[in-house]
Amino acid sequence: MQRPCVTQLFVPVDPTRIGQILSNLLDNARRHTPAGGQITIDLAQTPDRAEITVTDTGPGVPSTARDRIFDRLVRLAQARDRDTGGAGLGLSIARGLARAHQGELSCLAHPNGARFQLTLPTHDRAC
Ligand SMILES: Nc1ncnc2c1ncn2[C@@H]1O[C@H](COP(=O)(O)OP(=O)(O)OP(=O)(O)O)[C@@H](O)[C@H]1O
Ligand SMILES: [Mg+2]
Repeated sequence: MQRPCVTQLFVPVDPTRIGQILSNLLDNARRHTPAGGQITIDLAQTPDRAEITVTDTGPGVPSTARDRIFDRLVRLAQARDRDTGGAGLGLSIARGLARAHQGELSCLAHPNGARFQLTLPTHDRAC
């Protein structure tokens, strides 16, 4: 009997670098989400890309800052007030890594909390 054909999703990446992007997003989400909050990771597929979305229930990112936070050394006021803040480099590096893979990293509009989306190009691998 012939086995059914299952098309595999092939995402050609450097796993260490993609891990670095995700670890920055999750570190940010953890830092900004208060106790009892929630961090959600969603995976989706479009015809030509994979989408990984990280959403948290923290204070979110104002629409006026959604692009600016990807600039080097930018930390918003709420982050600067924290003792344990970072250098403001993580998102800039993460976006650079996403683009080096012909992908993109964006901060999406979201009514409650912050939402970041990493997209990576995919190739169908014929079975
Ligand atoms: N999940 C989030 N919720 C709210 N604000 C965020 C979130 N992620 C990032 N930000 C804002 O974007 C700024 C830049 O983030 P980025 O990761 O570049 O730097 P950082 O976390 O402050 O330091 P580093 O990543 O270098 O340790 C943060 O300081 C914070 O103001
Ligand atoms: Mg960070």
